[in-house]
Amino acid sequence: MRIGVPERLAAGTPGWTREADVVVVGTGIAGLTAALRLRGQVGKILVVTKDVLSAGSTQWAQGGIAAALGPGDTPTEHEIDTLVAGAGACDLAAVHVLVNEGPEAVRELIALGANFDHSADGELSLTREGGHHRDRIAHAGGDATGAEIQRALVAAIEAAPEIEVIQHALAVDLQLDAAGAVAGITLHVIGEGQRDGVGAVRCRAVVLASGGLGQVFSQTTNPAVSTGDGMALALRAGAVLRDLEFVQFHPTVMYLGPESRGQQPLISEAVRGEGAFLVDFAGNRFMQGQHELADLAPRDVVAKAITRRMLAEGKPHMWLDARHLGREFWEKRFPTILATARSHGVDPVTELIPVAPACHYASGGVATDLWGRSTIQGLYATGEVACSGVHGANRLASNSLLEGLVFSRRIAQVLPGELRPQTDPAPDPRVPGVIDAGVRTAMQATMTDRVGVLRSAEGLGSALASLDDLAGTPGVEGVPAWETTNLVSISTALATAALLREETRGSHWREDFGVRDDAGFSGHFDVVLSHGAPVATFRAAPATDGVTVPE
Ligand code: SIN
Repeated sequence: MRIGVPERLAAGTPGWTREADVVVVGTGIAGLTAALRLRGQVGKILVVTKDVLSAGSTQWAQGGIAAALGPGDTPTEHEIDTLVAGAGACDLAAVHVLVNEGPEAVRELIALGANFDHSADGELSLTREGGHHRDRIAHAGGDATGAEIQRALVAAIEAAPEIEVIQHALAVDLQLDAAGAVAGITLHVIGEGQRDGVGAVRCRAVVLASGGLGQVFSQTTNPAVSTGDGMALALRAGAVLRDLEFVQFHPTVMYLGPESRGQQPLISEAVRGEGAFLVDFAGNRFMQGQHELADLAPRDVVAKAITRRMLAEGKPHMWLDARHLGREFWEKRFPTILATARSHGVDPVTELIPVAPACHYASGGVATDLWGRSTIQGLYATGEVACSGVHGANRLASNSLLEGLVFSRRIAQVLPGELRPQTDPAPDPRVPGVIDAGVRTAMQATMTDRVGVLRSAEGLGSALASLDDLAGTPGVEGVPAWETTNLVSISTALATAALLREETRGSHWREDFGVRDDAGFSGHFDVVLSHGAPVATFRAAPATDGVTVPE
C-alpha cells in the first residue's frame, strides 16, 4: 500500500508570532538581490536563512557568471547557446529575458561592489565554459567568483539595517488563507529547542530563494544546506513544480574514493575552458569526435561520455589533464581549486586529477512565470529553487548566478504592486507528519544508484517503491527529520517525473529509451502533491532548440 509523504510537517504549534510584509527565504545571490531591490518599495522585509548568511551555494560557484559583455558578443548568441544546451526544453521568453537583461544586471552587481577579474588593459576578463561559443564568463578571484559575489551582497545587506535577517532559521511550511494565498510562514529558529523554536511570521508575500536539492544524492557539489527545503515547502503548499527530472550532473567533480559522501570538490569547467582535457586510463582523449566542442561540449554530453567510458573500462572515474597549464597559471587562475586538490593529495600541476560526474544543479523547481510568480498567490521563487524555464533539460554553464540575479530584479519590479492586505491563515486540516532522519543515507543511496546519471524504468520503479518504504518510517520533530522529510518528498516527486519521461533528453538519460523523442515528450512534467502522492502531468510544448532567434 502507498504511504506517501507528509502533506505538512509535524512541527508543533508556533510559540511566537512576528509580522513582516515580505519574507525572503535564502541568502545567496537570488535572495539577497531580491531583498536589496525590494528595499524602500515595501514595508518590513525579513530575510531568513537556515545557516549563516554566506552558507548557501552561491559562495561555492567557481566558474563565474555568463553574460554578453565582451566585444562582438551579443545576447542573441548567448540565447542560442542557452537554447541548444537546454535540449529543446527551455522557455523561449524566459531565455530572452535572461540574456537581454543579464548584461545590465551584471554591471549593477559590479557597481554594488563585486570585484571581477580584469585583464592588464583594464577590460573585464571573460572566459569560456562548456556549450558557449564565445568567451563570456566573468569571474572573480580566478575561481572564487561566487565567494566574491556573496561577499559584496552580504556587505550591502549589512549596510541596510532596515532589512532584518534571521540566521539559523529553517522555513517549515507556508500558511495559506481561505483563498489559498500566502498569509504567513512557519519557521524553526535552530537552537531555540525543537518546540520553542517554532514560530510563525505573518506576511503578505514570500520570496523563495532557498537553493537546490543536491543532498538528495550521495555525492554532490552542493553544500550540506541544499536539502530541497524550498521546493518541498512549495510542493506541500500546493504549488506546481516543473522539470524536476532534469538534474544536472557536473562532469568533473574530483573523485575522492567510493566511500566519500556529501559535498565533493568541483573542478570548474573553466579549467577545461583554459585548455584542460579528459583522458581515460590509457591516456587517450575521448571527447574529440563526440561533439564539435569536444571537451567543452555542453555538460550533459561530457557527463554521459565520462560515464560511458567508466562503464566500458569498469572504472570509478576518468582523468582530467591540466598539467600543461603550468604552475604559475594554476596559482593565478585557479588558486582555490589548486589548494583543494592538493589538500586531497593531488597536485594538478604535475598529476592527472581523478574526476567523475556528481549531482550539481536542479534545472527544475518551483514553476514560475517571467516575473517569478509561482502558482500560489503571494509566493514567488527565484534562483535554483525556481523553474523559470531558462535551463530546459540542461543548464548552460554559468547561467545559474545570472538567473538568480535577473529574476530577483524582476520580482522586485512587480511584487510591491501586487501585495494584498494581510490575511489570516485558514485552519489546516491535513495530518502532519515527519520522516525519520535515520533513512537519509538509504534514500541518498537509492537516488544515486537508481535515479542518478543513468536511469531505467526498472530502476526508477524500484526507487519509488524504496522511497515509499522509507517515507513510512516516522521520525521525531526536529531539523534532521524535517530536512529528511523534504529530501524524501522531493526525491519521490523527481523519480515520478523521471519514470514518466520515456526518452533521453539533456541531463535526463534513460538506458531503456536512449533517444530524444520530440513527438512524445517535447514539453514539461508539472508535479503537484495529492494526498501525499506526487502526481505528474505532461504539458506539451514545441522544442525550442531549433528555432530561429530574431536579432
Ligand atoms: C563550474 O565552474 O564548472 C560550474 C559553473 C556552473 O555550474 O555554471
